[in-house]
Amino acid sequence: MTKLFSTTSVAGYDLGHRVVLAPLTRMRTEANNVPGDLMVEYYSQRASVGGLLITDATAVSQLGIAYVEAPGIYTEAHIAGWKRVVDAVHAKGARIFVQMWHAGRQAHPANTGGVTPVAPSALLSLEHAAIRDKDGNIAEAELILPRALETDEVPEIVEQFRRGAILAKEAGFDGIELHAANGYIFEQFLLDGTNHRTDSYGGSIQNRARLLFDTLDAVVSVWGANKVAVRLSPSGTYGTMSDSDPHATFKFVAEHLNKYDLAYLHVIEPRVRGIDDIGDQPTAVSSAEIRRWYKGVLIVAGGYTAKTAERVVANGGADLVAFGRLFVSNPDLPARLRNGIPLAKYDRSTFYGGDARGYTDYPVGASA
Ligand SMILES: Cc1cc2nc3c(=O)[nH]c(=O)nc-3n(C[C@H](O)[C@H](O)[C@H](O)COP(=O)(O)O)c2cc1C
Repeated sequence: MTKLFSTTSVAGYDLGHRVVLAPLTRMRTEANNVPGDLMVEYYSQRASVGGLLITDATAVSQLGIAYVEAPGIYTEAHIAGWKRVVDAVHAKGARIFVQMWHAGRQAHPANTGGVTPVAPSALLSLEHAAIRDKDGNIAEAELILPRALETDEVPEIVEQFRRGAILAKEAGFDGIELHAANGYIFEQFLLDGTNHRTDSYGGSIQNRARLLFDTLDAVVSVWGANKVAVRLSPSGTYGTMSDSDPHATFKFVAEHLNKYDLAYLHVIEPRVRGIDDIGDQPTAVSSAEIRRWYKGVLIVAGGYTAKTAERVVANGGADLVAFGRLFVSNPDLPARLRNGIPLAKYDRSTFYGGDARGYTDYPVGASA
């Protein structure tokens, strides 16, 4: 029996193994950002008995959408769509957390109904959004200068997450993960490269972390702390992100998270930038440091293989390992890893948007 395939418990749920589906934006909703049949099939394929799945980044408001046809969780139709996904996953014996998301300055007017995206400060990200162009094709689009939120507008963002948390409960999810990674709104507030505010949301790390912790308090009031999780990318630069002292910033965040009895903390390793492998980074904040600072359940992600995942769990570096790209092309990844079955290669050209091709047509067959 390997450690990766030993049982564990997360959020009070018994899990049969420690191979987690990482949150993956796949841009495959139906109209109005509603999950449909294709997504039901996709998640069902990746559900295994005793497994844990995390959804695509799911927007809590239209103003938080960076990528066309990314899912939402702010209307009744979203709940109905997600409920079908959740039911299908539960029918396979797995658990599913929704990753709750607001893109902040990474959002694009083509996806927000023409509204200018908001951010802690009016600073431009050099990243791209994904939109539908005039001909209806999916296209990359440059971002625009965001509008800095007024001080009294920030609680509205918290409220959107609180409302989303209520809807997530109605949809039947097993828990929620706040997306505080990869250059979206929480990280834009946390890091001093993107937060130049002088009010109670800027300056000290306590202030820069206020949006995250106010939101955490709000969603915990809905779900209870042990069904709530947070995702961080302490070394990430995706989204034109930077911080003058990432070690101090993330030490504060990780240690402050100890005050909650969260479901888990989910951390992306330095060796991955967004969806690209970039090798080890000498100045980065590793998951080993986070492990020292944070006392609860830790999920790690980023470039893991069967061998390295087994090693990190066996040596106590993490409790579970999330897989992204390998789960794209291997819906039955846990069974393949457990049984040493060769892995199918993923096709990057079908990561974002489109139909069943590169989404639900990878071979399934291995059983756990
Ligand atoms: C197509 C694609 C979409 C992604 N979307 C998200 C997302 O919605 N939320 C998130 O936190 N990370 C997202 N990521 C990052 C993954 O969750 C994961 O951290 C990354 O792929 C590294 O893990 P891997 O080496 O196992 O792929 C995405 C990655 C890929 C490849």
